Amino acid sequence: MVAPNEKIKVDLSPFEETMLIPLWARGAEVHEDPPILCDEEAARLVDRLDYDFSILTDRMFMNSYMRTRFALRSVVMDEYVQDFLTLYPRATIVELGCGLSTRFERVDNGELQWYCLDLPDAMRFREKLVPATERCENMVGSMLEKDWISRVLREEGPWMIVIEGVLPYFEEEQVKCLFKMLCDYFGGGRLVFDTQTELYRRLIKPGKLVYAEDSDSGLEFQWVVRDIHEIEKWDDRLELLETQTTHDMVPRANHRIPLKIRMLEGVSKYWWGEYRLNVFEMVDEPVKD
Ligand SMILES: C[S@@+](CC[C@H](N)C(=O)[O-])C[C@H]1O[C@@H](n2cnc3c(N)ncnc32)[C@H](O)[C@@H]1O
Repeated sequence: MVAPNEKIKVDLSPFEETMLIPLWARGAEVHEDPPILCDEEAARLVDRLDYDFSILTDRMFMNSYMRTRFALRSVVMDEYVQDFLTLYPRATIVELGCGLSTRFERVDNGELQWYCLDLPDAMRFREKLVPATERCENMVGSMLEKDWISRVLREEGPWMIVIEGVLPYFEEEQVKCLFKMLCDYFGGGRLVFDTQTELYRRLIKPGKLVYAEDSDSGLEFQWVVRDIHEIEKWDDRLELLETQTTHDMVPRANHRIPLKIRMLEGVSKYWWGEYRLNVFEMVDEPVKD
């Protein structure tokens, strides 16, 4: 048990520790005027941690532009979830690699059912800060294994699977196997995820995010996507419904993003591709075991 005002130490593997980057970005929005995203809960979590967040700016190229980008990512993904909830208010939403996501609090309509999945140490850490509730359950496991699926299939569906900021760390083959497995079980549902570009793979080194150590864990982005339609060729059941690029998103925050960065992104897309937030339909009927 952790006392309510006790600061919580961060003792996570480098991959797990990456959960602090989007949390920091969402939490920092409360200090912006106007904010892109309103998430008092994220700000509360940032305050609860015994963690030197300056590590993000010092070692990882996390300037205010990058922070804004992370906040925009969460906003657009929230909207994808809200669109689905408009169609299916009693849907089941599953966040894979949830970290310290507080999306449930941001989009809850009082009827949906929510599941969060993360690796064992990451989930133990989350539980200290964001304990499970009746309609927002926490699950332990790897998204790459199918152990978690039967628990989620107890719900009637339809299901929306949300994977924010995780897949670029995997090899392409791992992502392909995961998507096949999701199509096998969640046909009729939707899949939301972001895709990384080669430019950011080269620029951003998440391996430098190792708290209290002056080292580089070697953690790097792996999976990059040049043409989003390539994913439709992986499996007949994957159909692109909607995609937004950084360019589509930034007008919401033009006042915070320097013109030279917007121009760099505009030019770089021709040879690196674009960072994207995507919604795919998984078109088959679900297979129940
Ligand atoms: C960059 S963080 C993103 C966290 C969260 N989605 C967000 O946007 O705030 C990556 C998360 O993926 C989790 N993760 C990594 N490998 C995983 C796996 N095989 N199965 C489930 N979660 C995983 C990490 O523990 C970490 O919480």
